[in-house]
Amino acid sequence: MTYKKKLEELSKIPQVVHGGKKNSEDKLDFSSNINPHGPPKILIDLLNANITKNKISEYPDNSLINLKKSLAEYVGVNQNQIIPSNGSLEFIKLFADTFVEPKSEVIIPSPSFGEYEKLVLIKGGTPTSVSLKKGQINIDEILRKISDRTSCIFLTNPNNPYGTVVKKKGLIDLVEILNKKDIPILIDEAFIEFSEENSLVSLTNSFDNLIVSRSLTKIIGVAGIRLGFGVSSERVSKVLDNMRLTWNINAFAKIIGENIIKCTDFVNETILSISKEREFLFERLKALELKVYPSNANFLFIEIDDSPNIKSQLYEKGILVRDCSSFRGIDSGIRIAVRTRKENEILIGALAELLHG
Ligand SMILES: Cc1ncc(COP(=O)(O)O)c(C=O)c1O
Repeated sequence: MTYKKKLEELSKIPQVVHGGKKNSEDKLDFSSNINPHGPPKILIDLLNANITKNKISEYPDNSLINLKKSLAEYVGVNQNQIIPSNGSLEFIKLFADTFVEPKSEVIIPSPSFGEYEKLVLIKGGTPTSVSLKKGQINIDEILRKISDRTSCIFLTNPNNPYGTVVKKKGLIDLVEILNKKDIPILIDEAFIEFSEENSLVSLTNSFDNLIVSRSLTKIIGVAGIRLGFGVSSERVSKVLDNMRLTWNINAFAKIIGENIIKCTDFVNETILSISKEREFLFERLKALELKVYPSNANFLFIEIDDSPNIKSQLYEKGILVRDCSSFRGIDSGIRIAVRTRKENEILIGALAELLHG
């Protein structure tokens, strides 16, 4: 392809919409699914103690030996299976750069995280959608969509924005079938802490085609610092780690990752409190006669008409929610993060006023 043609093709790729505060510092943010209790004080103290001239001016060590050791201990795998990344999105891009073949088909359940589709388009691949039915991923449907042109598959577990989970057993069956067909699958476990029993990290050493991405930005609340990682078999990780961008982990993200084990209690407490609050929100939303989906993550999806308007009315009341009408496969709906009891009550109060006067 000529340079001009390439630029023309790339300029057609749409931007991905995300939640988050942007210029709304004074708003209560239910639009991005970040732990409202984070980051833990121990990490802030560590960062403060490490803002030194050397840390800022020197290149970070790129071997990342201690970081890999720490992340491996955190998820219970071997350190040679870890590929650290600048947020899990960087690892997801590494997967796409490596395995999406130009002109190939890439299966993506929809709705899901909009970045997958963009990464596939950048590589000249064709996203092939598999629609979720009532928020549930249908594995048979994924299998039916596989063709000779399929180069790889993306799957989020739990799904974003529904928060629904595919049980481990179904996923293992899928990975086994794909393994025989020689097709790699990326399982994005950005929100798996709330459904840890369904994580596939422990199986990565058994299947070379199984590649898992994990995020630390949401669960410990360090989205601004950026830290994630990939997990795959030792054989595959050796290849992917070599493809990782040199110095991709900055000195401060490294400190956080190397001390992640010290946050285990914080993570466990978060899981308990968010699960309790999710139940509270779910019941209150149902009492408002809203169609809310059961979720295994730290957010809830509400099917509701005219979601752009609901979003702007809530915005007027000081609350940010994620309008999901930009997700492929969703006509109208909003996603809300689970926050603290006090904040959740404010949201419920605002919704009640808006819907029932
Ligand atoms: C499903 C999913 N995967 C990955 C990411 C990227 O997260 P990170 O901050 O780890 O790059 C997000 C961010 O919203 C997400 O929703």
